[in-house]
Amino acid sequence: MASKIITEAELDEIYAFAVQLGKDAGNLLMEAARSRFSSNSHNASHDDEPATQEFTEKDSAVDIVTQTDEDVEAFIKTAINTRYPSHHFIGEETYAKSSQPTRPYLVTPTTPTWVVDPLDGTVNYTHLFPMFCVSIAFLIDGAPVIGVICAPMLGQLFTACKGRGAWLNETQRLPMVRQPMPKNAPGGCVFSCEWGKDRKDKPEGNLYRKVESFVNMAAEVGGRGGKGGMVHGVRSLGSATLDLAYTAMGSFDIWWEGGCWEWDVAAGIAILQEAGGLITSANPPEEWATAEIPEVKLGSRLYLAIRPSGPSEGETARQGQERTAREVWRRVLALDYTRPGA
Ligand code: IPD
Ligand code: CA
Repeated sequence: MASKIITEAELDEIYAFAVQLGKDAGNLLMEAARSRFSSNSHNASHDDEPATQEFTEKDSAVDIVTQTDEDVEAFIKTAINTRYPSHHFIGEETYAKSSQPTRPYLVTPTTPTWVVDPLDGTVNYTHLFPMFCVSIAFLIDGAPVIGVICAPMLGQLFTACKGRGAWLNETQRLPMVRQPMPKNAPGGCVFSCEWGKDRKDKPEGNLYRKVESFVNMAAEVGGRGGKGGMVHGVRSLGSATLDLAYTAMGSFDIWWEGGCWEWDVAAGIAILQEAGGLITSANPPEEWATAEIPEVKLGSRLYLAIRPSGPSEGETARQGQERTAREVWRRVLALDYTRPGA
């Protein structure tokens, strides 16, 4: 059953609400960050209380949560429940508390749903590395149609709503430039990937599979048994949401990642798709060289994004993106992220 029909006027109103909510939540994040570095400002002595960030471990020593994650999620949840009581709400921290150890698919297509990560890049936040943000998505029939990402320490606000364009700071349309994919892609591409939270030291595990894939993408052409992709650069920001935003922007050409949950990607997917990017599965389908490019499955935990492209002689924009996706699949190993309880 599909969701209740939401009119275009209602969607405009929900979009405006989501953008304001992203700005307000971003301000909260920034206040919390500032409360830590202000004690080291020029008029404070070095003997002041050290501004360390307390955190609690969740699934592992690298899966952490701070009071800020909790506070910002509570703020967003209250605002959404007050304004749209009939909508469904999924937030990382609420969900983490309610459903361990099983994690069934989160998004049921029948109700308009908000999917929220109050703080994506929590490790960055605890280290005051500026790549952290709040990420808010609104879904209709299970598909992200609104995305708002606010990275307050960077002064960057990414917004998109289906049919209304994707934007940086509400004035710069995304992508910033729309160039064809390089003829020799992934050569000439910036490749974004994440180390993730699965750090099991097993040669058959995801960590090793990722590292081998990273090396394949980075190695010189002709190396690695012909798999050397010799990308221009490899980047790991520590925020899946921002990775997608920078792919929508055109700054990253390729983003490849496994292990993310819905809140890590929903807003980024809305922004990327509205900008004209392609999103599919990180794992190569059977017959990957010729198979149709699979639609992204929110909840699959496996994602490959290709930036918005432009046409070139003899190739449409979409053909260039698909060619690049296949060249990635040629080089990466399949990842194994199961979903407990699904
Ligand atoms: C994590 C980050 C990281 C990605 C993980 C996410 P969190 O989110 O986005 O880059 O690799 O899969 O869980 O914990 O910082 O919200
Ligand atoms: Ca988070």
